[in-house]
Amino acid sequence: PSDSTYDYIIVGGGTSGLVVANRLSEQKDVKVLVIEAGDSVYNNPNVTDTAGYGKAFGTEIDWAYETVNQEYAGDHTTIVRAGKAIGGTSTINGMVYLRAQTSQVDAWEAIGNKGWNWSALFPYYKKSEHFQVPTSYSSLHGSGVEYNPSYHGYSGPLKVGWDAEQLNDGLAQTLNTTYQNLAVPVPYNKDPNGGYMIGYTLYPKTVDAEKNIREDAARAYYWPYQNRTNLHILPKTNANRITWKEGNEVTADGVEVTFANGTTGVLKASREVILAAGALKSPVLLEHSGVGNPDILSKYGIETKINLPTVGENLQDQMNNGLKYVAKRNYSGQPDYVSYPSAPELFGNSTTAVANNVLRKLPAYAAQVAKANGNVTKASDLERFFKVQWDLIFKSHIPVAEILVEPSGYVYDMEYWASVPFSRGSVHIQSADPSAKARIDPKYFMLDFDLQAQAQVARFIREIFKTQPFAPMAGAETSPGYSSVPSNATDSEWAPYLTANYRSNYHPISTAAMLPKEAGGVVDNSLKVYGTSNVRVVDASVLPMQVCGHLQSTVYAVAERAADIIKGNI
Ligand code: FDA
Repeated sequence: PSDSTYDYIIVGGGTSGLVVANRLSEQKDVKVLVIEAGDSVYNNPNVTDTAGYGKAFGTEIDWAYETVNQEYAGDHTTIVRAGKAIGGTSTINGMVYLRAQTSQVDAWEAIGNKGWNWSALFPYYKKSEHFQVPTSYSSLHGSGVEYNPSYHGYSGPLKVGWDAEQLNDGLAQTLNTTYQNLAVPVPYNKDPNGGYMIGYTLYPKTVDAEKNIREDAARAYYWPYQNRTNLHILPKTNANRITWKEGNEVTADGVEVTFANGTTGVLKASREVILAAGALKSPVLLEHSGVGNPDILSKYGIETKINLPTVGENLQDQMNNGLKYVAKRNYSGQPDYVSYPSAPELFGNSTTAVANNVLRKLPAYAAQVAKANGNVTKASDLERFFKVQWDLIFKSHIPVAEILVEPSGYVYDMEYWASVPFSRGSVHIQSADPSAKARIDPKYFMLDFDLQAQAQVARFIREIFKTQPFAPMAGAETSPGYSSVPSNATDSEWAPYLTANYRSNYHPISTAAMLPKEAGGVVDNSLKVYGTSNVRVVDASVLPMQVCGHLQSTVYAVAERAADIIKGNI
């Protein structure tokens, strides 16, 4: 294909890239090329097995990005996983399909992104979805799964439903009653995918329920359409940088790549280059293309095409921690059960005090983040965004944490994360070589509310294990255990355990943030990179703030909307 010209080149055949490729190639007169570093995983059992979460980790389909030592989290490095395959991270993720809270998508518009609010995005969540009604497949009988028909899409490409693992157990009811018996009850939520997430729920996954195999972006958006003559995918090919037209305007005309055989070439695009390489790669590609902070680019001999210092900044992820308990019976399979408490449920009587304390600290948080990145993002902007985030947590009561009960053998694994940390980090190049590792610094636990929330969820989990009717089903807490972290432990006494044992929650976002340029944005509300006439970013990099669900549903929806923007439908 190196001698043909395409209308659109999409860099990254992952979750978002394949959505955009599919929708653009619906137009028969438009030629689309997808450049993907990975290969087909259609028959890879580490991908297809619905009970195989984690099996692909560390294999050739995992980028396994490594962070720098995390100075606020035990000073060690950690791995951020991401899929390297046709289908991207959707081929290795946990398949959880949970959207966001209405108010937090509305906040995108409130911070300056006109047109990006819940009511604009909701139709795109549905457009991508092929909801498999639970009565149509037998494993669900008697499971108690409920849903609201109006929240779902029935004719989209992406199959969403319940797999057998989640359902064959009476534990769901026990946990539900237990949540109702907590000091501040966590209500039952019949269907969290309509914009209201708070509560305990039985969530759906991206799964082909009939076949009981993983549904990923490739199975949904690419393989059924691979015979379209205007849709091409180039696997095992690494994009190195965008190439530019001569002239005053900054216009992309192609992408330099390294093919599977090690040779290098340039592929031409006549209309647009669309980056969908993921939040830890798209900003790196921009920097290698001369779009970024001149101080960083000049260090590696890269000429600055566009002075846009916020490329790679604003990196937001969550910290994932766990507690373990003895289970008094043996569990098979991988069932899991989720709850989303809001701040009043998590902090109880202390909520107002916690809220006031955090509010007072917002200017200091903003100053600390700005200082850490050399004032590339301005403290005044950060403070404004942090206040929006504070309002979401303490006024609109978005979920402040996600808690998963994961029984396995004779163990209850309790996995959790606080939903919206304030810490902001960065990803930047540290070499002129596009194949070299980037410098990834999420700054986990940098700001003290992030530690406080993470410690409070641990205390909350301990309460669940003291509450009927679940309490007698569990034995001792084995990790960390009360002898290691006593019941009255303060946040700083929890800190060594939390920072030694956390992992990335694998939800990196915002490294090419959609925001007004003067407020630190990299792309505008049409997802176009500031200063370019025809380069867009359509992946998780553009989300300006974290969402409380899991990322993929929102990534699919944003990519669906991006395709409509590119087609001129919006
Ligand atoms: P994505 O990573 O999908 O796509 C980027 C693509 O670009 C990849 O295919 C990559 O190989 C390719 N690429 C990168 N650099 C390139 C280059 N230079 N040249 C060519 N190609 C290049 N979410 C959820 O909703 N539910 C869940 O249960 C989970 N669980 C989960 C578990 C794990 C282990 C991870 C890592 C992530 C999750 N997530 C999740 C998160 C979710 O899956 C993720 O946020 C989205 O899939 C990201 O989609 P993107 O399109 O942004 O990138």
